[in-house]
Amino acid sequence: MTVPFVDLAALVRPSKAEYLAAIERVLDTGGFIGGPAVTEFEAAFARYCGAPHAASVRTGTDALVLALRALGVGPGDEVITAANSFFATAEAISHAGATPVLADVDEATLLIDPADVARRVTRRTRCVIPVHLFGQIADMAPLRALAAANRLHVLEDSAQAHGATRAGPGGEVWRAGSIAEIAAFSFYPTKNLGALGEGGAVTTRDPVLAERVKQLRDHGQAGRHDHIDVGYNARLDALQCACLSVSLARLDAGNAARRHLAARYRAQLADVPSVRLIAEPAGSSPVYHLMIIRVDAARRDAIRDTLGKAGIATAVHYPRPIHLQRAYAPLGQGPGSCPVAERAANEMISLPMYPDLTLAQVDEVVTALRDALG
Ligand SMILES: Cc1ncc(COP(=O)(O)O)c(C=O)c1O
Repeated sequence: MTVPFVDLAALVRPSKAEYLAAIERVLDTGGFIGGPAVTEFEAAFARYCGAPHAASVRTGTDALVLALRALGVGPGDEVITAANSFFATAEAISHAGATPVLADVDEATLLIDPADVARRVTRRTRCVIPVHLFGQIADMAPLRALAAANRLHVLEDSAQAHGATRAGPGGEVWRAGSIAEIAAFSFYPTKNLGALGEGGAVTTRDPVLAERVKQLRDHGQAGRHDHIDVGYNARLDALQCACLSVSLARLDAGNAARRHLAARYRAQLADVPSVRLIAEPAGSSPVYHLMIIRVDAARRDAIRDTLGKAGIATAVHYPRPIHLQRAYAPLGQGPGSCPVAERAANEMISLPMYPDLTLAQVDEVVTALRDALG
């Protein structure tokens, strides 16, 4: 049996009739940009995240750029984010005109390390972007305290964490997209909530920020032909929003399936000494966008090779930390500046993880992995 890394056609198949009906409704209205499909999805997604406002945009990258610009982050500002995110997190900071500063991550969770963020705060720091990586909420309590003490904005990169929760300091439930003043989501097709194409959204509790994002996504218009800012054409179209509403209704079931599969992986791998799992912080309910294991760096590529030959597809998220990407050589954060992220980049393997993966397939991946480890 082969196990693909992800099979999007299989994933959307059970909802095909609902997607087609949603598309038909949009075709019948003729409202392809804006209109009820967009506002209905935005209202439903805001409700889902526990945030008063959501603005849909073209991609997750746009969501980050527009959120930063809505916060007023720009040239001369520094923005601190995690060294082991997808490149887009830092790229968005550059597109907003600011300078990315990459912080190291926690050894146990591989989430941004608040102590390292604190060490990197300067006079020019304006914002911190914690990344809820792999479906797990970052350590937000110390980051919020640090931000309050230094008058910094906080923008959650929630691209990999739709529906994830973590307990706050008083035991309250913190949900991705409503923990900081503003958050960015991606609806790239492989995400927990995926569009049938590109998509993204900004959520916020601040009506002024929500309005700013809506203006920026629409060429900076405050009203028709009244451009108060140089913005973007970054609206998400009605067809994608209509389909996202269909997918949103299935998100909790998909997340529950991912958690169930992750529990099986964790149980099966618990007694394999050469495999390390990522810690789940107490009080957190991750949504397992990815299932990450760590192995000996010297053997990682050979292990992946052997799994591939056994029909098990794997990936690496991400093989090179952002500060070591050639595009960011001018930042001057060379090797050694984020040692935990650098080491983890050579040790990680992403195993298959998606809602319609079966427990039998998980067992098969684990058996093949045990064989590959020897
Ligand atoms: C953590 C993170 N941030 C930002 C993005 C960018 O999102 P998009 O690909 O929708 O532009 C992604 C996804 O690709 C991501 O995983």
